[in-house]
Amino acid sequence: MARPDFSRRSETVELMDTEPSALDDYAACLADLAQVNVVTLAYRPTLAFLDRVARLAPHDRTLRILDAGTGYGDMLRRIGRWARRRGIAVELTGIDLNPRARQAAPADEIPIRWVTADILSYRPAERPDIVLSSLFAHHLDDAAIVRFLAWMEAEAALGWFLSDLQRHPLPYDLFRLLAKIARWHRFVRHDGPVSISRAFVRADWRRYLAAAGLDAAQVAIEWHLPFRLCLARLRGAS
Ligand SMILES: C[S@@+](CC[C@H](N)C(=O)[O-])C[C@H]1O[C@@H](n2cnc3c(N)ncnc32)[C@H](O)[C@@H]1O
Repeated sequence: MARPDFSRRSETVELMDTEPSALDDYAACLADLAQVNVVTLAYRPTLAFLDRVARLAPHDRTLRILDAGTGYGDMLRRIGRWARRRGIAVELTGIDLNPRARQAAPADEIPIRWVTADILSYRPAERPDIVLSSLFAHHLDDAAIVRFLAWMEAEAALGWFLSDLQRHPLPYDLFRLLAKIARWHRFVRHDGPVSISRAFVRADWRRYLAAAGLDAAQVAIEWHLPFRLCLARLRGAS
């Protein structure tokens, strides 16, 4: 694979989006992706955002949380345990375009409602309080990202949090090395570096926010260790 030009988003496609595979193989890929999430501390920014939500939101009702591009659902299972520890009632919905995501996900005590749909055309029957996504936005092209931002702003009653990667040569090289050592699934070995090359720098997000008609003062662009670039929008936050 040729080294990407990090000055702009790559258009190389990911194998998990394009290559046919048996359900077992796909499930193995998602399980390895969940391991990547653990190793790269991927849950932390989202859980820290939810801590902020919990301080602002009323505690006498169920918090409706929707995860866009949920994949294996590991983020939602983490959130289920986070909520349980804090005594917060949550209703968790995972949306994924790929019907095999819900089939591949492991059985777990945390109840999750699975929906197979394209998030950009999905209209929730009941408005979610919070919309989340992790490692999802970089799968979209620029125009779809702008639509996704507008979708979250319209649908999320309390706020939304988008967690993705920073486009930078250092994580690109480090991930290639790590994936080789860890012997992760071939999709993960290929798609991890591609994801970084499809990901973002701050200027991209400023442009997308403006194109979506969002007030940049109300959406924080946050960098989290290691090489995560996230957007946080919380209504009613000072
Ligand atoms: C890299 S995976 C991330 C999974 C999970 N959020 C995580 O952090 O491990 C991206 C997921 O987004 C899903 N996806 C891509 N386009 C989508 C769309 N338009 N609507 C809903 N899901 C989509 C893919 O099927 C895939 O499961």
